[in-house]
Amino acid sequence: MKERLEALKQEAIAGLEAVADANILNDLRVKYLGKKGALTEILRGMGGLTAEERPIIGQVANEVRSAIEGLIEAKNNHFQQQETLARLANEKIDVTLPGRQPRQGGIHPLNQVIQDIEDIFIGMGYRIAEGPEVETDYYNFEALNLPKNHPARDMQDSFYLTEDLLMRTQTSPVQVRTMEAMKGEVPVKVICPGRVYRRDDDDATHSFQFHQIEGIVIGPRIRMSDLKGTLLEFTRKMFGEDTQIRLRPSFFPFTEPSVEVDVTCMKCHGDGCRVCKQTGWLEILGSGMIHPRVLEMSGYDPEKVSGFAFGMGVERIAMLKYGIDDIRYFYNNDLRFLGQFKSL
Ligand code: DAH
Repeated sequence: MKERLEALKQEAIAGLEAVADANILNDLRVKYLGKKGALTEILRGMGGLTAEERPIIGQVANEVRSAIEGLIEAKNNHFQQQETLARLANEKIDVTLPGRQPRQGGIHPLNQVIQDIEDIFIGMGYRIAEGPEVETDYYNFEALNLPKNHPARDMQDSFYLTEDLLMRTQTSPVQVRTMEAMKGEVPVKVICPGRVYRRDDDDATHSFQFHQIEGIVIGPRIRMSDLKGTLLEFTRKMFGEDTQIRLRPSFFPFTEPSVEVDVTCMKCHGDGCRVCKQTGWLEILGSGMIHPRVLEMSGYDPEKVSGFAFGMGVERIAMLKYGIDDIRYFYNNDLRFLGQFKSL
């Protein structure tokens, strides 16, 4: 029996030493030390031993058990250590790598340009007013001296919701709403940013929906020179201190006289280039002295007060300022485009 135990010990040691995997180690534990294992099997024969032999064999059996157990434990520790080392190697973090920046949003370039324009006018004492995008025929046209069947309505071919309601085609109706709300009080100094809608071509410079900013000033003795000075100040702040403006006679039903305002081309500074079609000038807005009829319709006496108004397209201003050649970039939400404006 003693020999069998010794043989078992040798076999187990040889087997355990060769083990390279924790699962096989466990199989061997069962095989040698388990309830139905080899050691138990041998010890079953203890019953046939004499009283003198029993403690001797018992001792040998204990030695064999603890030798095998010791080896199994050592192997187990070794496997666990290896696993830990492998995991550590796997999860290694290189703290010297440069960090990854989380993507951060930014203000949309159109909103940024609107804010810039607002800031310039707020600096000149204006306040901001807004009006509805669904507008009545009266505010959008009639009160701006564009009666039904007026040919100038054609230029703003519109989205009508009912006979009398439409998506506003311009921000000028906010002039009228402001004048009504002011109930004849002066001074009025307001700018009105917002979306406008027109049935327009969808091309590089047109969109069925775009943004305008309207301006209106009313007071005693407001003159054309005030308009010119205001716009010169605005354009210099917006496009650079060396910007010049010129006023060209034009027509709008709600102003008299009416002008279109050009600025010196920001690309060639007036020398002539592709952007300004060799003229040196770029048109940026419409404006004029508020028509007496418009003042009158909204509760102001044109004998006592006068005023000027102007309206500009935000997209156009942004395109000129940043050299953008297609209006659709503003609406396509391409992050490669938008990302360039994050820190305007
Ligand atoms: N509402 C005009 C348009 O959409 C722009 C405009 C021109 C506004 C002259 C004005 C103005 O206030 O005086 O084309």
